[in-house]
Amino acid sequence: MKKRAFTAFITAAAVCAAMLTGCGDSESVETKPVEKSAVVYFSRVGNTQFPDDVDVVTRASLNRENDALAGNAQLIAQYIAEETKCEAVEIVSKDSYPADYDETVDLAKKEQGDKKRPELTGDIDLKDADTVWLVFPNWWTDLPMPVYSFFDKYDLSGKNIFVFVTHEGSGFSKTIDTIRELEPDAQVVEGLSVRGGKVKSEEKNIKDRVKELM
Ligand SMILES: Cc1cc2nc3c(=O)[nH]c(=O)nc-3n(C[C@H](O)[C@H](O)[C@H](O)COP(=O)(O)O)c2cc1C
Repeated sequence: MKKRAFTAFITAAAVCAAMLTGCGDSESVETKPVEKSAVVYFSRVGNTQFPDDVDVVTRASLNRENDALAGNAQLIAQYIAEETKCEAVEIVSKDSYPADYDETVDLAKKEQGDKKRPELTGDIDLKDADTVWLVFPNWWTDLPMPVYSFFDKYDLSGKNIFVFVTHEGSGFSKTIDTIRELEPDAQVVEGLSVRGGKVKSEEKNIKDRVKELM
């Protein structure tokens, strides 16, 4: 699907978002006290090998922070890590996504259709964490498939999972319900959904939401 058609798709998806984001019922979830946090995120930037001269202004979803590229989910994770005083750790797929945005969009759609579970690199130590702050971009109104791989690889039973999503109109879509299905013995709570282009201006709101959940 090319960019214009994709934009039309997410605009239509945004109409449904208000209905779907209501499913989070975060207030009714009984969470554990937050004592040991882990911040885990998936972002397009860390999962793509961009050329050195990539144009951050015209390329959707790219920011430059301290001279390095940063994804929207990555920035949110960084804000959460600052509040929770722990390091943000990235979910990284063994195979990178294409530098071209449209190609990534098409590949992600195919992976979703194939129910693919991309192999992940490295290990994330979640053993002692009582709370996982999970951040990812909405991909085709769903979790990116490497985030499904993350749930396959790690058992988060008994932990709080505070979910933060970045998007361009679809909000959380059905991701909270999906994570509850994948981790039925975890306390899954809707953190915040933030539009990609507003992540930086929403820093205070994101940090306030973190303080509320702690
Ligand atoms: C493969 C792909 C699929 C996407 N699908 C959606 C979507 O269904 N709805 C939406 O609102 N945004 C969608 N987006 C936009 C991203 O969620 C948004 O730009 C996000 O802020 C990107 O975060 P990142 O920089 O951490 O990757 C999609 C982006 C990509 C690359």
